[in-house]
This record gives sequence, structure tokens and C-alpha cells, in this order.
Amino acid sequence: MLRISGLQAAYGKAEVLHGIDLEVAPGEVVCLIGRNGVGKSSTMKSIVRDQIAVTGGDILFEGRSLARMRPHDVIRRGVGYVPEDRRVFASLSVLENLRVPRPVRAQDRRRWTVEEVFQLFPQLHDYRNRKAGVMSGGEQQMLSVARALLTCPKLLLLDEPHEGLAPKIAEEVVDAIVELKREGVSMVVSEQALNTIRRCADRVYVIDRGVTVWSGTVEGFYADPEITRKYLMVQ
Ligand SMILES: Nc1ncnc2c1ncn2[C@@H]1O[C@H](COP(=O)(O)OP(=O)(O)OP(=O)(O)O)[C@@H](O)[C@H]1O
Ligand SMILES: [Mg+2]
Repeated sequence: MLRISGLQAAYGKAEVLHGIDLEVAPGEVVCLIGRNGVGKSSTMKSIVRDQIAVTGGDILFEGRSLARMRPHDVIRRGVGYVPEDRRVFASLSVLENLRVPRPVRAQDRRRWTVEEVFQLFPQLHDYRNRKAGVMSGGEQQMLSVARALLTCPKLLLLDEPHEGLAPKIAEEVVDAIVELKREGVSMVVSEQALNTIRRCADRVYVIDRGVTVWSGTVEGFYADPEITRKYLMVQ
């Protein structure tokens, strides 16, 4: 579904990705992990063409290169994106935020309606007339995921969806990921550590200083503590 090979990308003249390789098969949940500032968000931004310029390598989505596509065309082709800063419209209500995505016409994929995303996140339904800006971080996170679902993604990119959330709320976000996986949505989830999403991840990619340094199964990851020591612990 997604195949990234030898990706290099830069903000202006500053290259921050020097060789990212990543693959996602249909229905898979892949976890992208690494310390602060290693390039997890930049990898996602490269996929959806947000701020960063792709300078080398390629990003293929269903066999088609995204490297030079316009951001809204990437979304239209079926890539949903939940950025780490969430970007909900603070002065709009929950319902108004959910009316922002344009209806998708593609025939070949699961379509989501506002009613369905309310079933997934009942709390959003309760707060549907509340302004997004006054909601908690967890609620805004759910709203951001809900809004991305309304673009009817085949592949959903979640950038540190648990950042800053209380453990109980973080667990609810994992529940939603499990549910979406059951619905057949492929996902890339970035995290600082694997613990939060080990319940739903199929495979893991470890990034260090802009390069993919390890990839394998969740079991393989835990079987080798050296990976954590070398690439994830703060030194
Ligand atoms: N808009 C930007 N302009 C210039 N440099 C940037 C920009 N965003 C990120 N960077 C730099 O790119 C590098 C990779 O950052 P990135 O945000 O991709 O890391 P990350 O793995 O997502 O980190 P974190 O865990 O803190 O979210 C860092 O050195 C960062 O300072
Ligand atoms: Mg980040």
C-alpha cells in the first residue's frame, strides 16, 4: 500500500531525513518510533507534502508516487493525516469542525459519516455543540482523528496521538485504533516508545537521526533489548 524508499527531505536547505525506508501492507498498523527530533513527524509530513520538501528517494502509495503531488491530492487519494499539533479549529464547534472535510466521491473505499464517527467517539457526540478550543487535549485528539476519518482514508497517519494525554484517555485512543484496524484502515502511528500501541501494532520501524535503523515485528523488537538501549534511551 505504502512504500517509502531512501527518502530524503529538507526544510529549506536543512536536510533532516537522510534515508527513510518504510512499508505498510493493506490492513497493517505500523509503529514509527525514535527519540525526540529524529524525524518521525518529518516522515509523515513528507507523505502528505506538509511544509517539508522531498529531495530524494520516493514515496509510493498504491504504486503511484506522492513525492510531487499536491497536499490535497494526497488526501483525496486516501491518505488521512492527524498532525501532532492536532489543528482543530478552536472557535468552531465539534460539529462544524467535522463539516470541514469535503465529501469524498471515491467508490473503492469505506466511507465514514459524521454519525459513524460519533459512534466511535461518543464523547464527541455529547460535546457536538461545544467549541473545540475549550475541550481537553484528549477530546481534541479524538476530534482530529474523527475529522481525518471523514476524508475516508485507506491509510491513516497518526503523529504521536497519545502525547500529553492521561493514561486512561490514551487507552481510549488505542481502543479507537484497534477498532479502526478491525475496519480495515491501515495506519502509521508515531510514538516515542512502543508501549502505548503494542496492543495493536503489527510491525515496528525505529528511526534515528533521519534514517530507518531497524524494522521488524513487535515480538522481534522486544526480543532484542539492545535496540531500545541504542536508539530509544536518552543518552
Ligand atoms: N518546520 C521545521 N523547520 C525546520 N526544521 C524543522 C522543522 N520541523 C522539524 N524540524 C527539524 O527536523 C528534525 C526532525 O524533526 P521531527 O519533528 O521530524 O522529529 P520527531 O521525531 O517528530 O520528534 P518529536 O518526538 O519531538 O516529535 C529536527 O532536527 C527538527 O528540529
Ligand atoms: Mg514529532
